Amino acid sequence: MWQQRVRVRPFIKPMQSPPSVSPGIQRRHTLPASEVRPLNTQDATSVFEIEREAFISVSGDCPLHLDEVRHFLTLCPEFSMGWFEEGRLVAFIIGSLWDKDRLSAEALTLHKPRGSTVHIHVLAVHRTFRQQGKGPILMWRYLQYLRCLPSVRRAVLMCEDVLIPFYQKSGFKVLGRCAITVANLTFTEMWYPISGHAYMRRNSEAIRFPQQPLSLPLAKTEENDDV
Ligand SMILES: CC(C)(COP(=O)(O)OP(=O)(O)OC[C@H]1O[C@@H](n2cnc3c(N)ncnc32)[C@H](O)[C@@H]1OP(=O)(O)O)[C@@H](O)C(=O)NCCC(=O)NCCS
Repeated sequence: MWQQRVRVRPFIKPMQSPPSVSPGIQRRHTLPASEVRPLNTQDATSVFEIEREAFISVSGDCPLHLDEVRHFLTLCPEFSMGWFEEGRLVAFIIGSLWDKDRLSAEALTLHKPRGSTVHIHVLAVHRTFRQQGKGPILMWRYLQYLRCLPSVRRAVLMCEDVLIPFYQKSGFKVLGRCAITVANLTFTEMWYPISGHAYMRRNSEAIRFPQQPLSLPLAKTEENDDV
């Protein structure tokens, strides 16, 4: 969930205040109180805003920069999941497919459409919504969703050691030391088995987004391309 960077950070505008409108015509009543859905490129700025606070303000870097968020949300939005409260992004996961047993530096930027491993690049919760269980709940929803995808056999992630117990509570197991390092940071690679749950998949509301039925990843015409 990290990668080394030697480039200029993209400039992000601060979050805009909502337009000033009379309470009677505010859109609020039209927005669902709580919604979980795949992210799209229009969500990229909100994603990065959370990352900026969660990672960059702490360590100066983050797992995915804005261009990479857009990259993955363009290529494989079906491996992302966002939790929205009244239209506001409060937590998210971004993943992509990977096709090797272990993560290497390439995994940080590539989506391998034929891979059977979901590489979870980042899970983050907006700071005002932390310590409410949202991170574990979103991860649970995400893993349930992955079980709907026949080609997915496991999920992997890399994390700092302090977060190993956090992911273990979600069912991840330690795979070993990760080959990827960032500056002087080292990471542990963890994995979660997805396959073998086919019979739990069908007709389960728990594995559907509330307002948008899930669709399987689209078949790609150039499946051999690494993107
Ligand atoms: C880590 C994160 C996703 C946890 O989500 P959350 O909704 O705040 O999770 P909760 O507060 O409900 O915590 C669930 C458990 O994880 C533990 N935990 C939460 N954040 C932790 C952290 N940074 N380090 C170690 N343990 C942590 C909690 O203590 C809690 O344990 P408990 O069940 O024994 O009480 C969230 O704090 C976050 O977004 N942090 C910044 C980004 C980040 O570090 N992401 C993960 C690496 S990509």
